[in-house]
Amino acid sequence: MSEFEKKIAQYKEKINNSKNLRELVVINSEIFGKNGILNLEFKKLGSLPVDEKKRFAETINKIKQELSRIYKVKNNEILDKDIIEKVQKEKIDVTLPEKEFKIGKVHPVSQVIDEISCIFSEIGFSVEEGPDVENEYNNFTALNTPENHPAKDMHDTFYLDKDMKTLLRTHTSPVQVRTMLKGRPPFKIIAPGRTYRSDSDQTHTPMFHQLEGLHIDKDINMGHLKGCLNYFIKEFFEVDKIKMRFRPSHFPFTEPSAEVDIGYRIENNKIVIGEGDQWLEILGCGMVHPNVLKNCKVDPAKFQGFAFGIGIDRLAMLKYGINDLRSFFECDYRWLNHYGFDPLDVPTNYRGLSR
Ligand code: DAH
Repeated sequence: MSEFEKKIAQYKEKINNSKNLRELVVINSEIFGKNGILNLEFKKLGSLPVDEKKRFAETINKIKQELSRIYKVKNNEILDKDIIEKVQKEKIDVTLPEKEFKIGKVHPVSQVIDEISCIFSEIGFSVEEGPDVENEYNNFTALNTPENHPAKDMHDTFYLDKDMKTLLRTHTSPVQVRTMLKGRPPFKIIAPGRTYRSDSDQTHTPMFHQLEGLHIDKDINMGHLKGCLNYFIKEFFEVDKIKMRFRPSHFPFTEPSAEVDIGYRIENNKIVIGEGDQWLEILGCGMVHPNVLKNCKVDPAKFQGFAFGIGIDRLAMLKYGINDLRSFFECDYRWLNHYGFDPLDVPTNYRGLSR
């Protein structure tokens, strides 16, 4: 065996025994590099007699191919091994409990929705949901809204098509329609959610939150509505007594209709809810119009009931002393950290709503 052949045999062994890519790279340059053994051997070609040149070159090329093959196999083997090791090392068991909590905060709007749902669930209301993208029928027509009603105006409603058939719901009232159409009376539901109107200033944002209430049964009257709202306001503001008044109003979907104000006063620059001689409007309500019941396949000769719509953001601002509505939607972490709630303090009636 020539010196060259001995070296080749050694290198084959070296390749096969190498344990990592670093070792392989060194071997690579020793074999295939500019001053590697193959090139050095090729250099001898010049001094060989013509008839031997071809055979010599062929032999070295064969050896080169063979070494390349072995090299590639080893290289892939190491790469595979590295990947498997890496995957195993980085494996995480997602079912293990968290060691350290980086506490995020629950947004005041979510908190208030949880609180309200909790309060109404205590007296038998269940929670319904409807889509943000509604059709014109559910949002207006089924709710007895006349064709020329100003709310239907392009300036107030975000329409999503030229024919004005699809829109971003302007209130949560269409959930009344959806609920009644898909079930049979009695109905006793609340429906919180996002609503949209083309409006923007310190007290209005194009997207805001409402909560709809609907109670339909055989003999529900306005007294039930009053009792229900009185209970709700007291529970929500966590006070024993609340000054509240019903003011006659108009909504196409209720008859009679009312707006509800609560009493308040300002003390040391802070608002005190439930007493005082100032009034603040917080919701609209009324007895569901017979036309709405008919449109929803409920017989108004047998069933009747009340509905109400509350502005959630406003309630959150009042309860938690937040001045500018727009700050709700600015996604400022510092704001959320200050006004947000601990995710583990879930509101409950027996343990307290807001601690
Ligand atoms: N949908 C009304 C609004 O957005 C609020 C409202 C008023 C809802 C009276 C009702 C209701 O269910 O009975 O201004």
